[in-house]
Amino acid sequence: MTTPPTTDRRSVLKLLAASTAGPFILPSRLFGADAPSKKITLGCIGVGWQGGSNLDSFLGQDACQVVAICDVDAGHLNEAVTKVNGHYNNKDCKSYKDFEELLARKDIDAVCICTPDHWHSIPAIAAANAGKDIFCEKPLSHTLNEGIAMVNAAHNNKVIWQTGSWQRAQASFRWAAELVQNGYLGKVTHVEVGLPQGHSDFDGSGKDKPNGPVPAGVDYDRWIGPAQMMPFNPSRFHKNWRWNYNTGGGQLMDWIGHHCDIAHWGLANPQFGAGPDDAVGPLEVSATAEFPPKDDVWNTATKYRIQCKYPGNIDLVIAGGYKEIQGGAKWIGPNGWVRVDRGTLQASNPDWIREIQKLDKAGTLKAQLYNSPGHHKEFLDSVKSRKRTLTPVEIAHRSQTPGHLGYIAAVVGRTLKWDAVKQEIVGDAEASKMLSKKMRAPWHI
Ligand SMILES: NC(=O)c1ccc[n+]([C@@H]2O[C@H](COP(=O)([O-])OP(=O)(O)OC[C@H]3O[C@@H](n4cnc5c(N)ncnc54)[C@H](O)[C@@H]3O)[C@@H](O)[C@H]2O)c1
Repeated sequence: MTTPPTTDRRSVLKLLAASTAGPFILPSRLFGADAPSKKITLGCIGVGWQGGSNLDSFLGQDACQVVAICDVDAGHLNEAVTKVNGHYNNKDCKSYKDFEELLARKDIDAVCICTPDHWHSIPAIAAANAGKDIFCEKPLSHTLNEGIAMVNAAHNNKVIWQTGSWQRAQASFRWAAELVQNGYLGKVTHVEVGLPQGHSDFDGSGKDKPNGPVPAGVDYDRWIGPAQMMPFNPSRFHKNWRWNYNTGGGQLMDWIGHHCDIAHWGLANPQFGAGPDDAVGPLEVSATAEFPPKDDVWNTATKYRIQCKYPGNIDLVIAGGYKEIQGGAKWIGPNGWVRVDRGTLQASNPDWIREIQKLDKAGTLKAQLYNSPGHHKEFLDSVKSRKRTLTPVEIAHRSQTPGHLGYIAAVVGRTLKWDAVKQEIVGDAEASKMLSKKMRAPWHI
């Protein structure tokens, strides 16, 4: 457990003495919103594709200063540190290969974690235990039980958490969820979540590269970390790690934190048997999927269909590779339907969209959802105000839950009964075992 932040003078002096390893920027939480330096000090762990994009977003925010970067690939690390120091025109941003060293710095308020999925839970739990506020990418975790541990760590340490499910910060997704929550469809009976199928070659390595030497400057043992050791293969390294179950969860888990998160947002209302801000979770999950051979470099499901029963008699289907399930989230009720995807907002009655936009703007909706000032700014606002963000850890965990359960249901070939309160699969020992994965020593949570 971390020492709670304090404004006691002696503690402040102690803390300043402990922070000599880094630049002399006072952490904002030390003095609250009236800090002489109001900057939130930020460390970024994992600065590849999305980590680079999040870094750019944080560099664009005056409320924070990026003071540390950690990556196990020296190329990514040096590029990011050079960018940060160039941006601030100083040499204050420090480099780390080991996230533990970054987290040990007492002058860092918050971290942005953008490592591959198998590397979310360990640094995130360590960050929460060190009292850092956390911006962590989706999907929350590599296994369901890692997600539970992350929720507990964040809650026990009372840290602010934002997940990279940025669609909640976009107007069209908010309007769609507001249409559903404000009853335009009537009582929702069906929800469709359409996700991509197959694999995408994100870094141009293709899927059939032979094993090869570890690139210079990469600590591959650390990159593999808690996953099982495999020979280095460029086709399952940067970006394309998502297509191997050792490190990722395929298209299903890559997208579940986006469109299923939005589907849940629409249902997050007591009228649908949910809590005021969270769709609690499925009661029953069955699934089919097409998997490549296990030892293929890209072995994640290429086509999948997951059927979930939710409280309130709602059928929710998540599918990749089925034409009739269009991309995005679609809710269906007795009065009609609403569908939202990136760049698309449609409804069976187009007048609803014009109306919701007007009412949302006026702030007069019964279920009025938060109009985010931007996903990264909203996180920083919450770090200062200590208010819950739009995508806190428990929401991210619920958003990914049907994906984890769907994968397990497809592998065991049975319908799973899910106790969404205890977060346990009921009466199926084999499936329950798959809620966790053995971590490679010495890593553990
Ligand atoms: N929100 C979004 O829209 C969005 C988009 C893309 C990716 N993501 C998520 O972002 C995360 C990263 O994905 P990516 O596509 O950027 O992957 P990537 O492979 O491009 O980058 C991952 C980076 O993490 C580094 N890394 C690996 N292990 C590390 C460790 N132990 N310590 C420090 N650094 C380590 C790698 O060297 C690499 O630089 C994933 O969880 C992914 O799902 C989110």
